[in-house]
Amino acid sequence: MRNVYLVTAFLVVLTVSIFGFRGRISTKPPIEVFPDWAFPGMKQQPKYKHQGESKFFADGRVDRPIPANTVSRDELRNDDALFAGKAADGSWIRGFPAALTVDSAMIAHGRERFNIYCQPCHGALGDGNGITKQYGMGATPTYHDDRLRQMAEGELFNTITHGKGNMLSYADKLLPEERWAVILYVRALQRAQTGTAADVADASAKTSLGLQ
Ligand code: HEC
Repeated sequence: MRNVYLVTAFLVVLTVSIFGFRGRISTKPPIEVFPDWAFPGMKQQPKYKHQGESKFFADGRVDRPIPANTVSRDELRNDDALFAGKAADGSWIRGFPAALTVDSAMIAHGRERFNIYCQPCHGALGDGNGITKQYGMGATPTYHDDRLRQMAEGELFNTITHGKGNMLSYADKLLPEERWAVILYVRALQRAQTGTAADVADASAKTSLGLQ
């Protein structure tokens, strides 16, 4: 019973704060909970914002011009193999850029990205039978034809980077290194469909698989 007033007061505050001033238009500045004169520097902090004005610099601009001959180290893309899939003579590279370490971790990463970004259309096996087929997207090609098996890795990189025909670019979703990892996994998918009995090196595995 003691809490009745408290609860009522709380409900009144809640109701007013949610519904009270909705839709009201005011030309006056909003009420300041922490006025600047009492709490100097809290709301109007002395700082520069982008594109702002500055009295300190002679040209009056906050943004400072980049010194001449500056090269961004983050966006320096001078490795054509890595960033364009091209060799020095402009042809598509075969194999993977020297800057990358091709190992099982790279395949694993490629598999993860592939399953997120490519599988919906190209299917888990890369045979073009992804879920989107059931919804009417029938034109997704399989990776298991000779043209795509022979295609240079650099050209595959270009397809993922810029898209091709009906396929969109994945440059905004996959970093260049990730695109290479996906290509490595696509290669693994292709290889998986072309295995022969000769690939099974272990004699006991051969027996258990019923191979000669
Ligand atoms: C929304 C569906 C869709 C997704 C997702 C998708 N693709 Fe495709 N992909 C297509 C279609 C459709 C084509 C056929 C494009 C054409 O030739 O018009 C294609 C073609 C290709 C080709 C063959 C290009 C050629 O030279 O013929 C490759 C390689 C490929 N995709 C790789 C990928 C990779 C790798 C991913 C994931 C990063 C991916 N695709 C994601 C729909 C998709």
